[in-house]
Amino acid sequence: MFLLGAEDYSRQILDCGGGPASFAAEWNALGRRVTAVDPLYSLTGPEIRSRFDAAADSILGAVRADPSRWGWSYHSSPDALRDRRRQALERFLADFDAGRTAQRYQTASLPSLPFPDDAFDLVLCSHLLFLYTEQLDAEFHRRATVELLRLAPEVRLFPLLTLAGTPSPHVETVLKTARELGARAERVKVPYELQPGGNEMLRLVRRPVPQPPHEYQS
Ligand SMILES: C[S@@+](CC[C@H](N)C(=O)[O-])C[C@H]1O[C@@H](n2cnc3c(N)ncnc32)[C@H](O)[C@@H]1O
Repeated sequence: MFLLGAEDYSRQILDCGGGPASFAAEWNALGRRVTAVDPLYSLTGPEIRSRFDAAADSILGAVRADPSRWGWSYHSSPDALRDRRRQALERFLADFDAGRTAQRYQTASLPSLPFPDDAFDLVLCSHLLFLYTEQLDAEFHRRATVELLRLAPEVRLFPLLTLAGTPSPHVETVLKTARELGARAERVKVPYELQPGGNEMLRLVRRPVPQPPHEYQS
């Protein structure tokens, strides 16, 4: 989804809306630095598992009812998608208690996150902004963009489609907000695709925060 590469390995990453997925667990297991935030993390592991089970059947049922509405270049079939999502859940749950103690998982919600300016090098946010276009309005997307660019000089958002698979009108809001903050924005094609045409991320890069001349640094 995010074309993470060797240049990202040493970066301090924020996974915003990390959910019951395994990115933070896997990245941490590789010895890399990551914090995940989600309102879901106020729940216990078993509660998160129950929620996942309740949602998974209806989502998978909808996918199975009309597989032609989805792209199968990455996940080869509905069963492969189900198996991967469940593996990700298990990986996440195995890490959750220790990770919460270490503050790698924190309960927090956009548009206001409890970190100082530039606490991170890179923010990743998948399947939250744009996807929930109906539930999260333009003003939410504007405030979220300001917040994420406050926390890191680079932000990557995926996908750019709504739940219905249509282009989100809030992409324009985010682009406008980023421009007003002096950030540059580019749409980048990525290999992951489940929603047909949903193989693009938005990459926002703001100018580095000016540092004082070397001799004045403490
Ligand atoms: C569809 S899941 C995506 C999880 C994961 N990023 C992925 O791609 O598999 C969306 C997540 O966003 C979280 N979420 C909802 N509202 C949020 C908010 N205001 N701030 C941060 N996360 C939020 C939900 O709890 C949920 O875990």
